[in-house]
Amino acid sequence: MNTKLLPVTPESIAEAGEIIRAGGLVGFPTETVYGLGANALNGDAVRMIFEAKGRPGDNPLITHVATEAEIPPLIRGHIPAAARALMDAYWPGPMTLIFPKSDLIPPEVSAGLDTVGIRMPSHPAARALIQAAGVPIAAPSANRSGRPSPTTAKHVMDDMDGRIPLILDGGPCDVGVESTVIDVTGDVPRVLRPGGVTPEMIAKACGAVEVDGAVMRPLREGEKPRSPGMKYRHYAPTGDLTIFEGEAEAVARAICARYDEAPDNAAILALPGHEALYGARRVIPLGQADSASSVAAALFAVLRQLDDEGAEHIFSEAVDAEGVGLAVMNRLGRAAAFHIVKV
Ligand code: TXA
Ligand code: MG
Repeated sequence: MNTKLLPVTPESIAEAGEIIRAGGLVGFPTETVYGLGANALNGDAVRMIFEAKGRPGDNPLITHVATEAEIPPLIRGHIPAAARALMDAYWPGPMTLIFPKSDLIPPEVSAGLDTVGIRMPSHPAARALIQAAGVPIAAPSANRSGRPSPTTAKHVMDDMDGRIPLILDGGPCDVGVESTVIDVTGDVPRVLRPGGVTPEMIAKACGAVEVDGAVMRPLREGEKPRSPGMKYRHYAPTGDLTIFEGEAEAVARAICARYDEAPDNAAILALPGHEALYGARRVIPLGQADSASSVAAALFAVLRQLDDEGAEHIFSEAVDAEGVGLAVMNRLGRAAAFHIVKV
């Protein structure tokens, strides 16, 4: 299959909408990461997503809508008060809410669960695509399973060339990490995957929040995850990754010592402004500015770069696990199999 890469225009959106309506797949930008979309109401189309990604069949997909009116037919029961407050505060935006699902959602989307994740993205191209398709769009991140999520159209092309007919190029993604997944089926909203909507923001909108314990540690032996995605390491760099946490100068001394002992092909991930602490060693800056949102926006591109360059020993600074920093440490921590050294 020949994969077309088109800039976002009214014509390319119409073409993409047509492909989705006809049961095909499209790579498209969102404010978080690029998605690989199919008609969420068509189980056969959704199955093709799993094939194109090489995704385990037990990991459910998020259903994307452009308007609230699309939601009631997709869920079972009413919208709980906490969910209502979150929707009013943070949609459209980088937040996915888990509801009991209706029969309209095929088992391919929910991977056999009786719940469905719904997200209303803010990216204008994503919204226009959902409207052009005229159906809700099921979309995971548009990477091949086990690769970092794509934050540019080129990343999607690198992973999906020849597997899908069309990728819409909307430039680099703003947020850079996937949406916050929040289970709103219980009494207190529970964060299953941290993202751009932070626990602090959730508590502010609806008074309470819980962060699932498995967000910052590996699953325990025999533990059943609340979200199937927690089972998977998602992405493991080709090289071994260790994270160092502590005061900046002490971290730099510890990293330099390990770097200097390492054989060839070592690399350091450091916050912008910290490069000088590492002298002539090979440093890849984590973002443009020393802020968690800048690190989030850069993170997946940096991880792809490490693989492209064949880095074998990777030493990374930690970021404060506050605000969107929690999402960064969740993704970085998993990439490192939670190998975190406290300095
Ligand atoms: O920002 C995002 O969320 C991006 C863009 C494209 O919207 N999508 C995305 O999808 O990251 P994906 O499939 O890569 O990650 C979805 C995560 C998985 O960890 C999955 O296990 C979890 O959401 N999930 C989906 N439906 C769920 C459900 N019903 N219950 C629990 N977890 C669910
Ligand atoms: Mg993904």
